[in-house]
Amino acid sequence: MAFPDPLQIEPARLVVHGDRVVDADHGDWYFQYDGIEETRYVYLEGSGLLDRLATHEDLVVGEIGFGTGLSFRLVCTAMAETGYRGHLSYVGIEGRPLNAEQAEAANSLRPPALHWTPPQAKPRAGFVPVPGAKLPMQSPAPPGTGSNAEVEPGGMAPMAVPDLLLLHGEASAALARLQAQVDLWFFDGFSPAKNPEAWTPALFTEVARLSRPGARFSTFTAASEVRHRLEAAGFSVVKRSGWGKKREHMVGAFAGSWAPRPTPAKPSVTIIGAGIAGQSLALAARAARLSVTLHGTAAAPEGSGVPLALVNFRPSGDAGPLGHLRKAAFFAAQQTYGDAAFTSLDSDQSADGVSGDVRDHGRPLVLFGAEAMVSDDRLRGRWDRETDVGHKWIDQRRDRVLVPGALSLDTAGLRRAVLAQVACVPDAVDGPAALRRVVAEAPPDALTFIAAGLGSAALLSDTGGPLDSLRPNRGQQDEVRLGRDGDGTEALRRPLNFGRLLLPQPDSDRAWLGASFDRDPPQDWQAPRERDRVDNLERMALALPSLPVAATGRSWVGLRATAPDHLPLAGLIGHSLGLLTGLGSKGFLYAPILSQCLVAEALGRPLQIEAWVWKALHPDRFVDQGKGSAVALKPTAQG
Ligand SMILES: Cc1cc2nc3c(=O)[nH]c(=O)nc-3n(C[C@H](O)[C@H](O)[C@H](O)COP(=O)(O)OP(=O)(O)OC[C@H]3O[C@@H](n4cnc5c(N)ncnc54)[C@H](O)[C@@H]3O)c2cc1C
Ligand SMILES: C[S@@+](CC[C@H](N)C(=O)[O-])C[C@H]1O[C@@H](n2cnc3c(N)ncnc32)[C@H](O)[C@@H]1O
Repeated sequence: MAFPDPLQIEPARLVVHGDRVVDADHGDWYFQYDGIEETRYVYLEGSGLLDRLATHEDLVVGEIGFGTGLSFRLVCTAMAETGYRGHLSYVGIEGRPLNAEQAEAANSLRPPALHWTPPQAKPRAGFVPVPGAKLPMQSPAPPGTGSNAEVEPGGMAPMAVPDLLLLHGEASAALARLQAQVDLWFFDGFSPAKNPEAWTPALFTEVARLSRPGARFSTFTAASEVRHRLEAAGFSVVKRSGWGKKREHMVGAFAGSWAPRPTPAKPSVTIIGAGIAGQSLALAARAARLSVTLHGTAAAPEGSGVPLALVNFRPSGDAGPLGHLRKAAFFAAQQTYGDAAFTSLDSDQSADGVSGDVRDHGRPLVLFGAEAMVSDDRLRGRWDRETDVGHKWIDQRRDRVLVPGALSLDTAGLRRAVLAQVACVPDAVDGPAALRRVVAEAPPDALTFIAAGLGSAALLSDTGGPLDSLRPNRGQQDEVRLGRDGDGTEALRRPLNFGRLLLPQPDSDRAWLGASFDRDPPQDWQAPRERDRVDNLERMALALPSLPVAATGRSWVGLRATAPDHLPLAGLIGHSLGLLTGLGSKGFLYAPILSQCLVAEALGRPLQIEAWVWKALHPDRFVDQGKGSAVALKPTAQG
């Protein structure tokens, strides 16, 4: 099957000449002087954004030509100035993203409050989500009081923080992979005469697909070719006086009448299952300021009870949805576990006012860095070509690679941090009838997410749904005490992937070794098996003959929920009803991004992953393969 090629970026050629910021290739201007008043006039006023902010409706803004981030920062400022209380998602499309140095040069022409700092010093291609609370910025304006308003650390002025999704790639290709419903567009991709690629009919076809009825646009240009293309795509176009010496620029609206998005009166989420899928959904919903009720918090933790979970990246060479998901999931997991969990740990009070201090166990929640043995030339070649995921070779013989951004997670610590932020219902939801009761008792427009691992199938058993294909896969890991390695100098410092995993326990000479795979688990699957332990130890002795270990006799056994194609099952499967399961052996890697996408899709916000990948994960895929009948998973209010 043919899959879209990965998005590509080119180096930006931004140079500052006196008071002008220009592109050395096109000879075109990013802007002249500081560009502030012109951007405000053309885009914020011209598109109608300022009027829409004043009504506090939720908005999605799309900008073609994100450039130096000036328009974005001015939107942030306007949100703060108006005390905007809605939620704003900003999608910035950019084929030549700035590196840190170039951003610094552009920033030097504007006041500090309008500085833009890119999320990475060296940009990477593809979708780069930058959650609102992470933006290093401060507003000069009076306090915003809305759902996007955050208090800046250190007691500085409150700031307005939209969620930003950067699409790094050529605009038409990037938009073709976006799932979003845009209310306002800024078209700012250099001049059509010098840079026609940013104004093609194909691009405006994608713009039309992504536009809500009545969506407005503004652009600095008045070129008649652009006007014709916009009209052909379904926009009405009018000319407005231009800024400064420019005579005119264009604004307009997409066909249809704009209406605010329906916003739930009591935005809340019911989640069934408190494994990593349920916990990640809870974190994503809390980040979207939804109140969360989590069912099954006393149920057996199953796979998610694994004491230490590794979140790692390995270049698979897979151009399909799985390969794409693994990379996107890796970046999202770093952000979620590195930031969200710590954020909740750092504060004395969780968002609900429940004490969130979970540091009492005195161990780090997340340890960064993992090593992998690179067993063959093909894998070595893939690592050599890998440009997005930071890594370094750490062995003379080059058979080991270190991934500093990989992490191992104290799963119990994370679980405590999440449960402190939500309303917990200890009992499991006992079958389809109980599921309907739970839904009936929730507020009328509440979202429900089923995230019950293998138990999801029983909950949906009366729907003829797609979960018949979900299979258990038993895994056993065994605790070992680590000796010194061959030359007696170094014990294992970081998690090591040698085909199986060796995960050192923090502040200890012990590690977890495993895990085994058994796709046909017996009734008593929970009982540790000697043959699995021997297998784990033998594989390790073969791969790492100079590292002595001794089994302590402790084992941990769990079940993974696995789909036949090894892809997760994620998506909306009914009205306000979502499903997240089938996470196989990588639940801690996949759950953060899939949860964020599920919550975003349910709220009509832009998806942080390429749309073709998200579609490939939809549970409906088994319906076509005769493995289930049409999904009609719409629990009704009747019990
Ligand atoms: C040995 C082993 C090692 C692993 N190591 C890693 C690793 O290092 N990194 C990694 O990313 N992944 C790892 N995994 C995989 C990972 O554990 C799974 O992918 C993950 O647990 C799946 O999470 P989940 O929330 O979908 O399902 P589960 O963990 O199974 O959680 C589902 C939860 O829902 C509950 N539930 C079921 N039915 C109901 C109901 N009706 N009502 C309410 N609650 C219900 C269950 O009791 C459970 O608490 C490992 C798995 C095993 C077995
Ligand atoms: C005038 S600058 C935009 C300035 C920006 N709005 C700001 O606030 O700084 C134009 C931008 O469009 C980008 N661009 C031009 N053609 C593009 C294309 N086909 N795809 C994606 N980005 C493109 C350029 O790299 C450049 O950053």
